[in-house]
Amino acid sequence: MRAVYPGSFDPVTYGHLDIIGRAACLADELIIGVLKNNAKSPLFSLEERVRMLKEVTKNYHNVKVEAFEGLLVDFAERRKADVIVRGLRAVTDFESELQMAQTNHKLKGSVETIFLTTRLEYSYLSSTIVREVAAFGGDISQFVPKMVEQNIQAKMDKRRRG
Ligand code: PNS
Repeated sequence: MRAVYPGSFDPVTYGHLDIIGRAACLADELIIGVLKNNAKSPLFSLEERVRMLKEVTKNYHNVKVEAFEGLLVDFAERRKADVIVRGLRAVTDFESELQMAQTNHKLKGSVETIFLTTRLEYSYLSSTIVREVAAFGGDISQFVPKMVEQNIQAKMDKRRRG
């Protein structure tokens, strides 16, 4: 089974890594699809997000990281993926995730979405929360790997200076 795990990953968190680790055990190959989203203005550039993801997943032999643009189902088809993997943290995620999965199924009936429930200890965690805590100088060491923390700190320092 080839799976695609899509997202913005701005930045990658321990919650994402939990899903990646578990999905990598289920799939023969897992492709992490990093969205190039022109509408949002991300904290990290596409290249930075891809680079950080590659670094934190380097020990998984069956995980690849790729950027994508446009529709997720087109990316999944190009990569000959059987499934799209998404994490569900809480009931608040359900509505938008259901809508997205159903839209994707309508667009391309051959692509299935499977959901993994995020481990309880990460159920509150999101990239938005991490960016917010970091912006106010809070400790994000329990939310993201050390390398990501250092990158956020550097980004915040640069913003404060500039
Ligand atoms: O990490 P995120 O921001 O929750 O990920 C959202 C993502 C990348 C999965 C979603 O925005 C997406 O698939 N975008 C690509 C455009 C697309 O296919 N839209 C139609 C599905 S509703």
